[in-house]
Amino acid sequence: MNRYDGVRVLLTGAASGIGRATAIRLTTEGAAVYAVDLSEKGLAETAEAVTGPGTITTRPADVTDEPAVIAAVADAAETLGGIDVLVNVAGVHKTTPIETLTVDDLNRLFSVNLVGTALFCRESLKHLPDRTGVIVNTASLSATQGNPYMTAYSASKGAVLAFSLSLAAELAARRIRVVPISPGAVDTPLVRNADMFPPGLDLNYFSKIRSYYGAADPEMIAAAIAFAGSSDAAYYTGADFRVDGGAHT
Ligand SMILES: NC(=O)c1ccc[n+]([C@@H]2O[C@H](COP(=O)([O-])OP(=O)(O)OC[C@H]3O[C@@H](n4cnc5c(N)ncnc54)[C@H](O)[C@@H]3O)[C@@H](O)[C@H]2O)c1
Repeated sequence: MNRYDGVRVLLTGAASGIGRATAIRLTTEGAAVYAVDLSEKGLAETAEAVTGPGTITTRPADVTDEPAVIAAVADAAETLGGIDVLVNVAGVHKTTPIETLTVDDLNRLFSVNLVGTALFCRESLKHLPDRTGVIVNTASLSATQGNPYMTAYSASKGAVLAFSLSLAAELAARRIRVVPISPGAVDTPLVRNADMFPPGLDLNYFSKIRSYYGAADPEMIAAAIAFAGSSDAAYYTGADFRVDGGAHT
């Protein structure tokens, strides 16, 4: 018996990194996954990597585009026959000293990381069943730990965490669980991106993020998401689920 047999999952950010690993993990456990991302090419690669026994349907969409989100969630519910679990993974990063932080940076980080997450929650709640529905939102270690040069990113992830805690309280009457998950450093294209460490930054400042265990593989975060979204986590809601290799300690 697979833990996700018959479970219908809507997943964003599925074209890369943690999202791709989550699509593979959940379908391996039997889920029917409806995968959304900006990158059509990345989604196709994810679909190719899925071997079952679950299934994957892909749809390119921008999580910040409200009509596109409304259409994607409605199509997910129709295609899958409902939605049991929403997993918001889509996100962007930007590392910059405060002196060069722009309004465009702030708007982009908050649009993708917070607004995209909030829109998917609002729309999916039209379909998530009372008592068994689950939302997993990707926050970050940066939401609760000061990380230099990450002011805007950290603020956007702090917003995802705060949004998720309040949503968990609001949905308690429906017994729909909301789990904000906070990875530490994970080895994905997001942190390998040249944007992550612009020239001139003092890399010693990043020592706080490092775990004695090193960076996580995306599969480690996918396994934690699979737990959070499953009935194994039936009593876990409204608390920051830190998966950071002890970087907080
Ligand atoms: N990698 C880390 O160290 C780390 C640590 C903590 C939290 N996170 C969070 O985990 C999540 C996944 O990160 P990752 O490391 O796998 O990064 P990634 O860059 O490998 O994947 C992010 C995905 O989000 C998609 N995306 C970006 N903007 C989008 C938009 N507007 N609409 C739809 N899709 C969009 C990208 O196309 C990409 O496929 C992010 O929310 C990130 O902030 C990552």
